[in-house]
Amino acid sequence: MKKIENSCLSIKDVNKQVELYGFVGKKRNLGGLIFIDLRDRSGIIQLVIRPEDSAYELAESLHNEYVIKVIGTVCERENKNTKIATGEIEVLVKELFLLNTALETPFTISDETTALEDTRLKYRYLDLRRNYLQNNLKTRHKITMAAREYLDSIGFLEVETPVLCKSTPEGARDYLVPSRVNDGKFYALPQSPQIFKQLLMVGGIEKYFQIAKCFRDEDLRADRQPEFTQIDIEASYVDEDDIMTIGENLVAYIFKKVKNVDIKLPLSRMTYHEAMEKYGTDKPDLRFEMPIKDITDIFGNTNLSFIADIVKTGGIVNAIVLNDCADKYSRKELDKLTDYVKTYKASGLAFIKVEETLTGSIAKNLTDKEISELSKKLNLQKNDLVLIVCGKYSVVKTSLGALRCKLGKDLNLIKDNDYKLLWIVDFPTFEYSEEEGRYVSCHHPFTAPKDEDLDKLIDDKANCYSKAYDIVINGYEAGGGSIRIHDQQVQSKVFESLGLTEEQISDKFGFFVEALKYGTPPHGGMAFGLDRLTMLLTKTDNIRDVIAFPKTASASCLMSEAPNTVSDSQLKELHIKLDK
Ligand code: AMO
Repeated sequence: MKKIENSCLSIKDVNKQVELYGFVGKKRNLGGLIFIDLRDRSGIIQLVIRPEDSAYELAESLHNEYVIKVIGTVCERENKNTKIATGEIEVLVKELFLLNTALETPFTISDETTALEDTRLKYRYLDLRRNYLQNNLKTRHKITMAAREYLDSIGFLEVETPVLCKSTPEGARDYLVPSRVNDGKFYALPQSPQIFKQLLMVGGIEKYFQIAKCFRDEDLRADRQPEFTQIDIEASYVDEDDIMTIGENLVAYIFKKVKNVDIKLPLSRMTYHEAMEKYGTDKPDLRFEMPIKDITDIFGNTNLSFIADIVKTGGIVNAIVLNDCADKYSRKELDKLTDYVKTYKASGLAFIKVEETLTGSIAKNLTDKEISELSKKLNLQKNDLVLIVCGKYSVVKTSLGALRCKLGKDLNLIKDNDYKLLWIVDFPTFEYSEEEGRYVSCHHPFTAPKDEDLDKLIDDKANCYSKAYDIVINGYEAGGGSIRIHDQQVQSKVFESLGLTEEQISDKFGFFVEALKYGTPPHGGMAFGLDRLTMLLTKTDNIRDVIAFPKTASASCLMSEAPNTVSDSQLKELHIKLDK
């Protein structure tokens, strides 16, 4: 391989003969001299061609994105460019070779772009030429390498698990693949390697990891893709502390190796309950405070009938305080915040401003006692703004939690280069699904309940907690896992508590329950979202920026036009008739 990277050249290489390859970035003709920005994956280097050079005629005919090879001499530049790594030098071209021409591209390849994302996704191979995406992919590569390096160093084996699997419930909908040779039968693409990694523990592998592709047919968000990648780990003879220690050491290793960021260990831990109470979410962004405060008890005898009604029916009243912000929010801006919390199903947003007296939407109706209790509980100071939501617990917490994050960004409370990591622990085993009218697993049905809660599995589901943990970084759920059930009787009890019949259990996980009977070591593990770790280390909030060929919000690829229709003969072979 002859090619060297542009950016490895520097002032030290002056007078050196070099052979370079790349795309034509920008071309300028200044007073007869032709300047070309030659771009490769490492960056840009300036080429100079003089009118007397034999390459001049060909250089004149070059257009953006043509692929060229040059042979020339490294020279010191007169006008140095401090913005690029090779800004002190240029290459005086002796020979120029055109390796390929290019059509005019639908958008200019440059770091700053105004091209629509849809256009960039359609021509993703051109978008990938931008430094920004190249750097993101480099970071992703470094994270993967660091993870492999670290896990190998502590004795974990990388083992691949199948992609054509059996459909098992894991929260999201499965992607199904019809089987040609098994009429009417389907494989499912794995939502994660969960069952297989547990079977590897039954198989005596003891310490497993995999950079695993996962597939989930769920509603997409800025941090979710239908196919994404996990750094997946599982180990035998471990407890929660063991896995959390491995997990945080791995993250610290990655942060140090990839970004030279020191993470202070051990990470702090917060219970699920405290996270919901104070931040309205199980993935709190702790880069700023502004906690949610419960002020329900102040409104026991309130004159405000809408609050009284809510409190009487078991609802709550919660507030967040924006210090020294009362004069920053006009009525119009407060209306916008109200619309924002309404998207989270809150019925409205009340506000109080601490001016000479208390003013705002509910201030007039507050009694002196309520005012003094509010001032004390919320430690109110002049010019504070209090935002209040009341209603059902989950709605109040979720809407104020989301508002808190929005305000953190709006008010610039988040420092650049700040990383706040923590574990969320003590998750409930079950959550009530309004949609299904029953309790469903909070994580997955293989999560071990706390030993002291085993007898609550059937009759007291609301108070049953799990040996589960999530790692949260800057408000993102970067990973999660649990200690698993290794006792088949406990596993059967969990299935029973989820309302699964014997038949359903044996149909869906018969092979797995059977495996548990053959001497299953106690085990546990976790999985990190590789895409999310890369988002955090590249500081993007768009998951598509860290995936070479991502899907849109409707799970399609604008470039290849997947998913697409297939021929009748393909369908016939698969025994499928479409309901047109
Ligand atoms: P879980 O479902 O929590 O756990 O997934 C682990 C981590 O994967 C990432 N993640 C995603 N990233 C991008 N797009 C998605 N659609 C997506 N869904 C999840 C998150 C998440 O924390 N088998 C268990 C792990 C275990 O128990 O060991 C599992 O998959 O960062």
